[in-house]
Amino acid sequence: MDDTQICKIETDNGDEPMSNHSENAHFSSILERRLSRREVLAGGFGLAVAGVLGLPELVKGMGIEKHPFTPEPAISSRPSAALNPKLNFSAIPITRSDTATIPHGYKAQALIPWGTPITGDYPEFNPDGNTGEEQEQQIGSNHDGMHYFPFRDNPNDHGLLCVNHEYIDGNVFHPGGATLANDQWPDDEVRKEVAAHGISVVEIKKGSAGGQWNVVRGAYNRRITADTPAEIRGPVRGSDLVRTKYSPTGTATRGTFNNCANGYTPWGTYLTCEENWAGYFVNHTGLPREHSRYGVSQSTGRYRWETAQGRADEYIRFDASVKGNSAIEDYRNEPNTHGWIVEIDPFDPNSRPVKRTAMGRFAHEGCLLAPPKNGKPIVFYAGDDSQNEYIYKFVTKARYNKNKHVNGDILDEGTLYVARFNDDGTGEWLPLDINDRFFRVTAINKGIFFVDQADVLVNTRLAADVVGATKMDRPEWGAVHPQTREVYMTLTNNSNRTTTDAPNPRSPNPYGHIIRWREQGNQSWATKFEWDIFVLGGPEGEGQVLPGQNGPALTQDNTFASPDGLWFDQNGILWIQTDMSGSQQGSGPFGANSMLAANPITGEIKRFMSGPNDQEVTGITSTPDGKNLFINFQHPGDRSQPNQFTSNWPDSGAVFRHPGDAEVVANPTGARPRSATVVITREDSGIIGV
Ligand code: FEO
Ligand code: CA
Ligand code: CA
Repeated sequence: MDDTQICKIETDNGDEPMSNHSENAHFSSILERRLSRREVLAGGFGLAVAGVLGLPELVKGMGIEKHPFTPEPAISSRPSAALNPKLNFSAIPITRSDTATIPHGYKAQALIPWGTPITGDYPEFNPDGNTGEEQEQQIGSNHDGMHYFPFRDNPNDHGLLCVNHEYIDGNVFHPGGATLANDQWPDDEVRKEVAAHGISVVEIKKGSAGGQWNVVRGAYNRRITADTPAEIRGPVRGSDLVRTKYSPTGTATRGTFNNCANGYTPWGTYLTCEENWAGYFVNHTGLPREHSRYGVSQSTGRYRWETAQGRADEYIRFDASVKGNSAIEDYRNEPNTHGWIVEIDPFDPNSRPVKRTAMGRFAHEGCLLAPPKNGKPIVFYAGDDSQNEYIYKFVTKARYNKNKHVNGDILDEGTLYVARFNDDGTGEWLPLDINDRFFRVTAINKGIFFVDQADVLVNTRLAADVVGATKMDRPEWGAVHPQTREVYMTLTNNSNRTTTDAPNPRSPNPYGHIIRWREQGNQSWATKFEWDIFVLGGPEGEGQVLPGQNGPALTQDNTFASPDGLWFDQNGILWIQTDMSGSQQGSGPFGANSMLAANPITGEIKRFMSGPNDQEVTGITSTPDGKNLFINFQHPGDRSQPNQFTSNWPDSGAVFRHPGDAEVVANPTGARPRSATVVITREDSGIIGV
């Protein structure tokens, strides 16, 4: 989600909502102190990398941990142990064109645009408006995080794609924009909006002729929406804090929404992450801490679903005001059933989504698996994407056993940690555990009381405030290097400016940066780490790889801002996706939102592609052979007015171009823009990027 969208709907301040009023140290002040110290230490790029993180030495002798659903490179291209990938393509220039711009030697296909029929009666997309019932059988809108699950036979040509659908933009989504009547929303508009949220599971297969991917109309295909029944598992299951009229026992809820980035598990399930869920609710009767610390509104819900004309129970629940005599007579606790990591088994179409509450409740951007190690706990990392929020890690209690089948229940017991970054380059993971003495005593000393671990988890942000976590500049996606296990995470920006000024945008961090850390002993479950800045975004003269360590400055080939999506392929390329606002894309120094490829060993970064007007590049996954790269263009035409479109992608027919080809200009009365997946392949069928 970009700043503009948030600006229009939630906060009007051009940034993600900020609801952290704790006195914890802010990361920018720590970084400032640290960088000035680093400038003294700097002795050249290679030396700096080795000296600060010990990278070349520690890489030696480490094998790649494999698990069934991690893409692997083909044997012929498998790099040396150091995974020092050559970025074997010409950087594309800074571009504005209403299409994908990709390097020479590559081609692209638009797949499963919003409205593609995948199940039921397979209703075709109607640009003049489908019904809510039809939307329930179609691909949702605003594609975001996703993962490709290969079938055992033909894994590189046939798999299940799980795709998040983050939100809807009424100006593009409804034929004439959203219609409000007597302060209420037409039921079917609400039904359609609810249905366009959530997740699509869709079977896809590559055809032999021309190598185009197609939807298979099979039994795996399903839509999970903002209204699909889901189970609550883990420590919060049955808590008083999640009892509702719908589920008096506090064991179930309906729907998952604002699903942003994603994760996956070693046992082949999909993890979807609930990000800006708080804005969908309203509470007119006073905010308890489990609402206020997350920014639940006291005036109106984001889409006002609670005002649907028919007053159906599934929509009324978005009003979390106290109305009844107890929690099981109203929906005061409904917001507490959202903000979780949700597990979905794509291979069992009858399975229910499960909210894994042990992993914490916040504005989950993603859920990032560290390569599992046999006999050790399984570790996931997650960012909380709001201004001044924190970075978390979840470590399972049970150990990973590659020879024994496990399922998601292993996620119901473990320790949730939050990160503290010290200004000397070290860091600590602080447990948010009511049985931890430091946590308990600190909370009591600060006058904050938790009834039980369920209370801690429902109030994860408050618990993190208690232990003194470090406020970060909007943590977005993370990525774990497949060999070194170093973790990289985007901090997209953190500006308190009220308007975007592209030529003068850093106030204090309008371009964002990427931080990285290495766990003590290279063990993902360790409680201490060392950290470093990999790159500062920015235009020429401001952006730099390894700032303070004589790393290369960014150039016309790789300037960027607002890094968001992040992913390592198995060749060790770090893929960086950007999410600048529409206005910044339209007039700033960076051109359209783009995807860049980085070599974390050398610091080389090249712009690989950019997208059509007003979109953000987000979501990334690959077939196991690395020859089909899937990414999403979310919200092309984001600045459209009803039937006045700023993009016509992809139905304009101009799906992609190469540098030097004619620019594609949007026609305001042309095709309605649609979010879609983009499949990138090489014309010589080689591996992407190398
Ligand atoms: Fe949905 Fe933080 O991006
Ligand atoms: Ca973002
Ligand atoms: Ca994002």
